[in-house]
This record gives sequence, structure tokens and C-alpha cells, in this order.
Amino acid sequence: MTASSYQPRPEHKFSFGLWTVGWQGVDPFGVATRAPLDPVRTVHELAELGAWGVSFHDDDLIPFGSGDAERSARIAGFRKALDETGLVVPMATTNLFAHPVFKDGGLTANDRDVRRFALRKVLRNLDLAAELGASTYVLWGGREGAESPVAKDVAAALDRYAEALNLLCGYVREQGYDIRFALEPKPNEPRGDILLPTIGHALAFIGELDHPELVGLNPEVGHEQMAGLSVVHGIAQALWHDKLFHIDLNGQNGPRYDQDLRFGNGDVKTAFLLVDLLERGGYTGPRHFDFKPARTEDDAGVWASAAACMRNYLVFAERAAAFRADPSVKQALADSRVDGLAEPTLGAGESLAELRAEAFDPEDAAGRGMHYERLDQLALDHLFGVA
Ligand code: GCO
Ligand code: MN
Ligand code: MN
Repeated sequence: MTASSYQPRPEHKFSFGLWTVGWQGVDPFGVATRAPLDPVRTVHELAELGAWGVSFHDDDLIPFGSGDAERSARIAGFRKALDETGLVVPMATTNLFAHPVFKDGGLTANDRDVRRFALRKVLRNLDLAAELGASTYVLWGGREGAESPVAKDVAAALDRYAEALNLLCGYVREQGYDIRFALEPKPNEPRGDILLPTIGHALAFIGELDHPELVGLNPEVGHEQMAGLSVVHGIAQALWHDKLFHIDLNGQNGPRYDQDLRFGNGDVKTAFLLVDLLERGGYTGPRHFDFKPARTEDDAGVWASAAACMRNYLVFAERAAAFRADPSVKQALADSRVDGLAEPTLGAGESLAELRAEAFDPEDAAGRGMHYERLDQLALDHLFGVA
């Protein structure tokens, strides 16, 4: 494949949040290193780079507290940029974390009036999301949590979270919006402990809702890694449940603060195997990047890092396809009996009595090599480009 094959095109369905390239570099120890980005310019730059979509929080587009006239003008400018570039809005979300009013959370704040305000804020942006054609509405509950378990009644908080989701699903149905919700798990940061901290917690929660079919996941690569979990296994399980509604691709180096590195930086092997999974596993949704261009970068560095996210995805996709097509990989997969797991453990029509009566030599089975090291090395050789 030549370098030009790594040119992103709309059919690759790459999308970016306004807040990603728009991150000004404010961190807990320092002020902004970059000027604010006008969303209209972002739309044009992303289109120029070959992206397909753009997502946003309400406050990314319409600053918190804007009056109606300013709100309309900002939406009109954004719409015009979308029309001019052909960029779509696949996803939208609500900022329920930045303003101090949300310091104890939005939908699960202890204060009822704050919860009611949070719900109003979601409803308002949900209408805009529908207007702009978004089909996924993300809920990332960064402030839904606590620093001390004494301060938050977790069962009551989950009741309120479920109440909010049930109300929102009811609203979407009533309005006839073609929108599904996607919960984004994260173990911690900014809260000491966040509710629904992992893919598994969120999946279990969804099963308790009135309309589980309308609620799925928006897992983020780095968030599962912050919890020390395998993101590839997590995403595979989300796919198994038909709950991978959306995905936030980025990079992370192990369990530490949320790094939001550009996709490809951080754990490269995980990124490669994740792309392999997404490309083969039936995921057809946006390839959405939720990263923060490093604080060291100027404006040019921002767009270079956005371009690199897409380029890295395409490189991984190419390498993964070559890995799967390689005859020695097919042989190694067979030697490792990977396909054997697809066969039901009990034969068709077979009884448990027959299973129990079967002769088996555990010593003989224990002596079989699985040949996984060779298989895994072939994956690395393909990733390194030396296969
Ligand atoms: C994070 C989160 C956020 C959310 C986004 C959507 O890095 O902790 O990814 O960036 O995805 O704010 O609400
Ligand atoms: Mn993150
Ligand atoms: Mn995210």
C-alpha cells in the first residue's frame, strides 16, 4: 500500500469532537497555551483533512449562559459550515461538568434543583442534536461520583441516573427522534470515583432501564486502561451485547491520569488489535477521536495531531488486514485451535449423561502446546511491518 492510501476519506467515518482540537491546554497546573478555536474554522479544517463528522457538547458551540440571539447565530454559523463542507454531526453530548454548579454532578447531584437544571440542559441540546441529524447522544458522567463514599448514596445515585435515562428515552420516543444514548464509562477524574466506572458496570446498569434497546456504550480506549483493563476485551464484550453504539479512540500509557493522547500514541499494540477488532467485528459506527493535542503544540501541531489519529487508524487497518490474509497466520491460528472455541461444548442432541461418561486423559491434554507465542509474534511482525 502506498502512502497515499493513508489519506482519510469520508467513507472511513472519522469524526472529532469540537473539544478535542479545541482544547486550549488548560491542565491542573497551567493555564491555556493556545487560543480558542472557532467551531466554524474547526469544521473547515477537519473537512480539509478528510474527516467525515464532527461532534460537540452544547457549550462547545454555544458558550454557557448565551442569550437566545447569540445561540441562534452560533448554530446558524455552524450549520452553514456543515453545509459548505458536507461534514455531518453523528453525535452530540452535554457538558454537565465544567460549570461550578455541577461540582457534585449533574444527573446524580445530591441537590435536586441541580439535577433538574442538568436534565433541562440535556433536553435542550437533545433537540439541537436531533435538528442537526445526530443519531447518538453521549452521556459521560465525569462529575457523577464522589471523593468519599460517605458523601454519595450510590444506590440512590443509580436510581436518579436510571430515572434520568428513562425520562430521556421516553422523550426521544415521544418526539420520534432517531437517537440512541451511549454511556461513556470512566473510573475516575475529575471525580475521585465516578459512577459506572467501566464497560461492565455500564452494561449491567443498562439492563435495569425501561428502554435498554435505546441505551448503549461509548467506551473510550484510555478510560478502560486507566482501570487497568483490556480495552480489546471490553470492546469485544460490548460488541457481543450489541452495545457498541459509538467509540472514543485515543491513547494512554497504563493506569494513571487520563492522558487523551492522539490515537496511536500510548499502547500501540492495543491500538492495532482494537482496529483489527473494529474492522472485523461488525462495528459500522463512527471512528471518533477523543484526544487532546499535547499542550506543547501550536495551531499547526493541533491539525498535525488530528491528521495523525486518522493516518494511524488507516495504517493499523492495513496491517490488520495483511495479518489476517497471511497464510502463515492462518496456519498459526489453526495450530492454536482458535476456531475450536466457536464449537459448542455440548454436541447437538448430546446429553449431559453422555458428556459425563466420556473418557478423557487430562495429562495428555495438559501436554498440548497452544502455540500462542508464535501467533502473537506474527501479530507483532505485521504491526512492525517485518512479516
Ligand atoms: C474524558 C472524556 C470526555 C468525554 C466528553 C464527552 O476524556 O474524560 O472523554 O472527553 O468523552 O467530554 O462528554
Ligand atoms: Mn479521556
Ligand atoms: Mn471520551
